[in-house]
Amino acid sequence: MVDRNEWERDRPVLTGSPRRPPPSFVEQANVTDPGIYDEFEENWPECWERAADLLSWDQSYETVLREEDAPFYQWFPDGKLNAAKNCVDRHLESGRKTHTAIRWEGKHGERQTYTYRDLYVAINEFAAALRALGVEEDDVVTIYLPMIPELPIAMLSCARIGAPHNVVFAGLSADALATRMDAADSEYLVTCDGYYRRGDAFNQKSKADNARLKLEQDVSTVVVDRLGDDLPHVLGDDECDYHELRETFAGELVDPVPRDAEDMLFVMYTSGTTGEPKGVVHTTGGYLAHATWTSHAVLDVKPEDTYWCAADIGWITGHSYIVYGPLALGTTTVMYEGTPDYPDRDRLWEIVDRNAVDIFYTAPTAIRAFMKWGSEYPAGYDLSSLRLLGTVGEPISPRPWNWYYEHIGNETCPVVDTWWQTETGAVTVSTLPGVSEMKPGAAGPSLPGMDVRVVDSSGTEVDPGDSGYLTIARPWPGMVRTLYDGDERFRAEYWDQFSDPESDDWHYFSGDAARIDEDGYITVLGRVDDVINVSGRRLSTTEVESAITGVAGVAEAAVVGRSSETNGTDVYAYVSTEGGYDDGTAVREAIIDNIETAIGPIARPTKVQFTPELPKTRSGKIMRRLLEDVANGEELGDTSALRNPEIIGEIQAELDEE
Ligand code: WT7
Repeated sequence: MVDRNEWERDRPVLTGSPRRPPPSFVEQANVTDPGIYDEFEENWPECWERAADLLSWDQSYETVLREEDAPFYQWFPDGKLNAAKNCVDRHLESGRKTHTAIRWEGKHGERQTYTYRDLYVAINEFAAALRALGVEEDDVVTIYLPMIPELPIAMLSCARIGAPHNVVFAGLSADALATRMDAADSEYLVTCDGYYRRGDAFNQKSKADNARLKLEQDVSTVVVDRLGDDLPHVLGDDECDYHELRETFAGELVDPVPRDAEDMLFVMYTSGTTGEPKGVVHTTGGYLAHATWTSHAVLDVKPEDTYWCAADIGWITGHSYIVYGPLALGTTTVMYEGTPDYPDRDRLWEIVDRNAVDIFYTAPTAIRAFMKWGSEYPAGYDLSSLRLLGTVGEPISPRPWNWYYEHIGNETCPVVDTWWQTETGAVTVSTLPGVSEMKPGAAGPSLPGMDVRVVDSSGTEVDPGDSGYLTIARPWPGMVRTLYDGDERFRAEYWDQFSDPESDDWHYFSGDAARIDEDGYITVLGRVDDVINVSGRRLSTTEVESAITGVAGVAEAAVVGRSSETNGTDVYAYVSTEGGYDDGTAVREAIIDNIETAIGPIARPTKVQFTPELPKTRSGKIMRRLLEDVANGEELGDTSALRNPEIIGEIQAELDEE
């Protein structure tokens, strides 16, 4: 639970000079009428039919929004549709069989192209295989794959037969996979032998095997052979080879199952304020409508585009903006397996140039790295095909924003800074690129039809120029419907803070702090709960702390975020051991090992600071805010509430010595 009074510090907020959208962009944009804001406002919630109309429905809906059971809202109830049919089949019917759906760029320069027809064949065959393995409608299928085409193929095959998918980021550990399969009662797993990390073959299957050993349920597993002879593997009795299955079911067709709009499309686990990840449930109609509409209105995707969202499908950004949104619009979506600096720092620009990419969407962390590497890398390529740039995942300050605008966009591409979350399903705050002025450093206003507000701890909207809590005052189609872990936790995590159930007044709480300006532009300041955002990836400090305290000899731990020029935020851990002060390398290594085992390398701390004690209040609460200030070299707030104020001085002295 969030301590709402903790967000008291006023941070300076910088926004750069506003820029008008480039006229060459406006001329061709999907949305250009500024009247759209009023139109949506006057016609709410029916305005969202505009999003639903981008989809093909097997049975049309009669109601747009059902609010009776708030905060358990229903969008387009009584409508029926299938997500895979929307993303694939309907494009064959509209004569786009040979149009490229997925352009895959492998780590070592390998390339694969799937036309819509190829994708159709693949998902039919794999859907048939899943059925033969026993997967029925509503069974949760876990997918633990890196960025290879079989990942979206597996997702869409699940969608075809109405089996919700549960994609677990390939870089997470065996323990993290087991937790998520257990929580989702999942008895099916699609994984691979391994993948290339940097130059090396990395064994994924052994992680999957270890996860399965921890589970009570039997798991039937499909293994994609990605590495061939580079990493030979043996299949067990309850394991099948993906390519053999495809051959067995070659040519098989499976009718897409018409799903109720409110049927679950997928669950995605994300970090919450407790150690237990939250299973965010998204449904078929509202989610797909919102992801598709924002791909059209915010990212300006057109069917003839080559569109590239350089994220990982293992997180929500990839679900909404590599797979569902772009494929529903029938465009070409680029999928990149590697990293931006392998084999060299020009890798992304080479891909943009060669594929004549029109739209490029990435995270501020990546942009800060490009900036650091220098403009000579993009300057060596022809990037003139680019029409729009996007960013997502963390706040972006004016300097990297401007660098992106100048050196990647050549000052002719609008930049959309899109704020949203796993829970919002799709973009929630952003400028409309063909309509609005851009302000570097501010994401933008609420999208039409959304009502995002910045409020104080009593829920009252703050004055322009002030900061407060970021809340959403009206339901929206892509919103999380509940948590797989239960409705109670759903209410507690998102609704209890700012809602008044007595008067049926519901406000969703995002967990973020923000500032709003006189034009309604929102600058997101960061999380106010026990979640830190490292390179656009969400981590729970509690989860990292429990991995640390699991190490023999460790007494207590506190994890905070430290600002970092490249990552935005780094993980910074304070640890006290049972024997008092310790800087033993062995303990440090055990701590890092344990974190990688429990979560994965993404949670690895950049610093483990040993201290004889942690600073605590008289009631025994660890003062994380102070530790955060120390880690960031900031001036300390009030320490009078501390039982052991001297400890702060000791920690600082220790740091000064380094
Ligand atoms: C958290 C959600 C949504 C895709 C990626 C992350 C932060 C996201 C922005 C932005 C400032 C941002 C917020 C949010 N965030 N976009 N444009 N400006 N902060 O999804 O893992 O659910 O994380 O990412 O703190 O709450 P997620």
